[in-house]
Amino acid sequence: MRSFLLGLSVFLLVGGALAGKKIAIPSSFDKNYYVAWAQDHVQFLHQGKEVQISMDKASGSAIASKMVYASGFFNMRIKVPVGDSAGVVTAFYLTSHSDIHDELDFEFLGNKEGKPHYLQTNVYTNGVGNREQRFLLWFDPSARFHTYRVLWNTHQIVFFVDDTPIRVFRNKAKIGVHYPSQPMQVVGSIWDGDSWATDGGQTKVNWTVAPFKTYFRNFDIDACPSSKLPQLCYSPKFWWNRDKYSNLNSTQQKRYLYVRKNYMVYDYCSDKTRYPVPPPECDAT
Ligand SMILES: *[C@@H]1O[C@H](CO)[C@@H](O)[C@H](O)[C@H]1NC(C)=O
Ligand SMILES: *[C@@H]1O[C@H](CO)[C@@H](O)[C@H](O)[C@H]1NC(C)=O
Repeated sequence: MRSFLLGLSVFLLVGGALAGKKIAIPSSFDKNYYVAWAQDHVQFLHQGKEVQISMDKASGSAIASKMVYASGFFNMRIKVPVGDSAGVVTAFYLTSHSDIHDELDFEFLGNKEGKPHYLQTNVYTNGVGNREQRFLLWFDPSARFHTYRVLWNTHQIVFFVDDTPIRVFRNKAKIGVHYPSQPMQVVGSIWDGDSWATDGGQTKVNWTVAPFKTYFRNFDIDACPSSKLPQLCYSPKFWWNRDKYSNLNSTQQKRYLYVRKNYMVYDYCSDKTRYPVPPPECDAT
């Protein structure tokens, strides 16, 4: 379907150019997203196919989905600020809006120029987070776009960096672990996190190099709007709910173990100071 639509828009573009007319190709941004914070810090590039959100001393900014969802395979192409971005957090996440909320986070922690880039993930269920895992990225996320994805179905939540699964949160409701199941909104944001993000809050934002700019691409959303019955959102009619997506396959499993062994720099599951007994979801099986 998507390749058909792509073909169609290429056809319209070429056809339009030949006819000497400009055809505005509608962006899926307007269909699925809106500017949720600081309109004046958000710019549309490449006919709306790309969005730049920025942060300066006055404000950060954010985009958010118009709808909330109950399952899906969410993805965003992201390029984070170049150069010195200490204290500047770029986030791509799903969040519900109740007091005891669920949330699934990707957070780029900002760095001094030339220092490694760290990506943190977190999972909140029923208002409780404290499930941080942190990775050293094996590429420079400010140099070009990469794809960051979250699979969310009734079996598992998987965080992917490009095609590499870096984190799996399996549904262990059967043993009493809360599993994110509240309808969630998709958000992309940039904000001042210098109280904690870089070197544990020691390294602050250098405002002389502001504004800091993050770029997003791909505003399609493959997900089940929560206006449908929740049960319907778990139906195998949606491809991300099929058997194939209930477990990592052998290739993914290998890649997952490899990055966790070589690039994971913090895991709450093995933080004995915080959790003398690892939380039940940490059981490796
Ligand atoms: C902040 O950025 C300016 C401009 O690049 C640089 O001259 C200065 O040394 C930086 N300050 C810190 C604390 O890194
Ligand atoms: C595992 O899944 C990935 C992504 O869907 C796919 O590209 C790969 O071919 C699969 N590998 C196996 C062994 O099934």
